[in-house]
Amino acid sequence: MPIDVRPAGFADLDTLVAIENAAFSGDKLSRRSLRRLIGSRTAIVGAAGERGVILGYALALTRRRSGVARLYSIAVAPEETGKGVAALLLHYVENAAYRRGFHTMRLEVRSDNKPAIRLYEKTGYRSFAQYENYYHDGMSALRYQKSLCALNMENGPK
Ligand SMILES: CC(C)(COP(=O)(O)OP(=O)(O)OC[C@H]1O[C@@H](n2cnc3c(N)ncnc32)[C@H](O)[C@@H]1OP(=O)(O)O)[C@@H](O)C(=O)NCCC(=O)NCCS
Repeated sequence: MPIDVRPAGFADLDTLVAIENAAFSGDKLSRRSLRRLIGSRTAIVGAAGERGVILGYALALTRRRSGVARLYSIAVAPEETGKGVAALLLHYVENAAYRRGFHTMRLEVRSDNKPAIRLYEKTGYRSFAQYENYYHDGMSALRYQKSLCALNMENGPK
């Protein structure tokens, strides 16, 4: 059965919290923040599912008067990684941001997060800057961006 991505709702909150806690060791989004963001009109929250089971989620934030959306979080349940779930989630939030009038997606990633860096580079993100001492443990962040204008939004991820 194919994996599909749909908007996350309040009924998904428990699962999203569980995925967040399993996927990240630090800098986790709290249940309260996730609830607020699911209900926010300026957030895009996609949940990827297979046979009704949620495998991961992605969250992008948008700001009025800015053409730049920000990928704020993406996480896949550890036992479901390597199946292309994150690539589908990225495509979903990029497409949704583009339809809302955003021309660029930006993100920050820990400079030691190899799986995430490979995911972003493989899906067309380019590094343009670095923040030193960005995370609670002093790790730096790489800043990536991708133009959404160049995408053919009708196609899924390659
Ligand atoms: C990063 C993460 C979202 C990737 O999810 P995923 O569903 O496994 O990613 P995909 O299957 O779509 O993989 C796409 C590409 O990412 C890269 N990738 C994914 N997992 C990887 C791993 N363990 N090691 C190296 N590269 C990896 C590969 O380039 C892969 O392409 P390939 O399958 O052709 O090799 C997932 O590992 C995760 O939830 N990590 C913890 C949370 C996190 O770090 N989020 C990002 C915060 S910035």
